[in-house]
Amino acid sequence: DLEEAYPPKSEGTVSIISRGNGLLCPEDFGLFQYEGFWYHSFYLEGVKLAQEQFKPQSTDIFLCSAPKSGTTWLKALAFSIVTRTEFDFSTNPLLVKVPHDCVPMLEVDIVKNMSDRNPEFPLLSTHMPYSSLPKSIIDSGCRVVYICRDPKDVFVSFWHFICKARPEIGLLPMEVIFELFCQGVSYYGPYWDHVLGYWKASLEQPERVLFLKYEDMKRETSVLVKRLAEFIGHPFSAAEETEGAVERVIDLCSFENLSNLEVNKNGRHRVDTPVAIENNTYFRRGKVRDWKNHLTAEMVQRMDRITEQKLGSCGLMF
Ligand code: A3P
Repeated sequence: DLEEAYPPKSEGTVSIISRGNGLLCPEDFGLFQYEGFWYHSFYLEGVKLAQEQFKPQSTDIFLCSAPKSGTTWLKALAFSIVTRTEFDFSTNPLLVKVPHDCVPMLEVDIVKNMSDRNPEFPLLSTHMPYSSLPKSIIDSGCRVVYICRDPKDVFVSFWHFICKARPEIGLLPMEVIFELFCQGVSYYGPYWDHVLGYWKASLEQPERVLFLKYEDMKRETSVLVKRLAEFIGHPFSAAEETEGAVERVIDLCSFENLSNLEVNKNGRHRVDTPVAIENNTYFRRGKVRDWKNHLTAEMVQRMDRITEQKLGSCGLMF
């Protein structure tokens, strides 16, 4: 249970939050713990199926992330890089499909057979933590790209996501969701442990795991899009660079462009599942440091302290 998983901290933080005369448990949010991480039951089923059944091809490339850290952007970029010779930029499927429908998700689309896999197409995505990835993926030597983001912005994004996509939970005060997030209770959380798993893997096997930060992607988009393209085996040639192919990928996948497409304004994703969602939920502000508009000084201090404790010694800063 929560108290066992996250014992009270010395600085007096609570590990179970009072709710009237009862206690607020992760199960109230439909969250269940498995191998040290918290899952919505729908995704947890898929995680276990993936661990039991999934057999990768050695050419597979996994786009990995914790929710709200830049998954949608990474999927769009990788998809447009890989398909740039197949479609010109005015016919790219990203113009009519949400990025999540362009790159299948392992624990949902693949193992639940919700979309047919094209064996020629190398991209797959997952929110699974590194330590829970199917052994078959680790053994196969497949390449992995991970994107992470300042935990403060992840939390703010997560909070807005919950208010919109899970309104029954969004009724809870932000402070409660914040407390749970800090204690590690969020979808695929603890967030910090998620980041740490992939960070360590990237240090051990840099040729196999590319570790990206949302903030760096925003600041040095062109450099990192080229690095991503090279890492996933679709480098831009000098001629392509000269004639502006890198900028075209960046423009196609920009927040401004994607969020204004009809499909992303009014379309829906995973219809007929317990986790159906409006596509516009994936596009909110797309800014770095939006936390400044939402968190109190105490919240900032608390999160920065956790980040320092959990990631500081690894040299991971945001
Ligand atoms: P905000 O809520 O801070 O705006 P994920 O894709 O992992 O669910 O993360 C969602 C976050 O990425 C949201 O952050 C969303 O607005 C932002 N995002 C979505 N598409 C993006 C894009 N093309 N470029 C930059 N950020 C994007």
